[in-house]
Amino acid sequence: MDIHIFRDHDALDEHAANIITQQLLSVPESVLGMATGSTPIGLYNKLTEKHAAGQISFRQAFTFNLDEYVGLEKSHSQSYYEYMQKHLFRHIDIPTEHIRFPNGMAEDLEQECQRYNKMLAEQPIDVQLLGLGHNGHIGFNEPDEELVQETHVVQLEPSTRQANARFFESMDEVPTHAITMGVGSILKAKHILLIVKGEDKADIVYQALKGPITTQCPASLLQTHPRLTVFLDEQAGRRLQ
Ligand code: F6R
Repeated sequence: MDIHIFRDHDALDEHAANIITQQLLSVPESVLGMATGSTPIGLYNKLTEKHAAGQISFRQAFTFNLDEYVGLEKSHSQSYYEYMQKHLFRHIDIPTEHIRFPNGMAEDLEQECQRYNKMLAEQPIDVQLLGLGHNGHIGFNEPDEELVQETHVVQLEPSTRQANARFFESMDEVPTHAITMGVGSILKAKHILLIVKGEDKADIVYQALKGPITTQCPASLLQTHPRLTVFLDEQAGRRLQ
């Protein structure tokens, strides 16, 4: 595990963007695993800038997103698909048909999960970007007695719905379920880049990276990955220094 602690977000985002840039320069048809949430926005801005400056092209790249809410149209302002359009895809040259997303509106959600798993098996992820939930979740894999390996439907924890409620008009509108890649699918990525920012994540960062490997902290399973890079700001990395 390779841990880097950055003094400011700009440097962190720049270094994270450089990892993706290097990957695309060496393998233009790379498969990138994307995350949503507030953490990667700075990184996506950097990638947008690099693309505008002609330093990086996504024309041959493919992306898989970690998760999507069940019951929101793609075009809903809070769907993760729309998030990716807004923060990255609309600003770069990735062909729409190279963008892989779980369809949270599928009539048969089980079949949709199988479809996603099949695509993941056919196109293994080169670099998987991850954020970290306050309870140790990765994707929408919440703490539990057991974790599911592959893409599946999850019921969201009240704390996760609460954390996401800020983006919706009322708590009632926050979806109750999501489709997420499983921890097994995440761990199959060749390289994992975990980014965590903020004092409020300092304890969970410590538990995830230095605590016991347990399904009660899904991110702790990342300790078993042979190529894990962790980028933290000083606040999130406070307990590691
Ligand atoms: C989003 C995702 C989530 C977030 C996590 C942290 O696709 O998979 O696991 O990475 O909830 O979210 P932020 O970055 O908003 O703190």
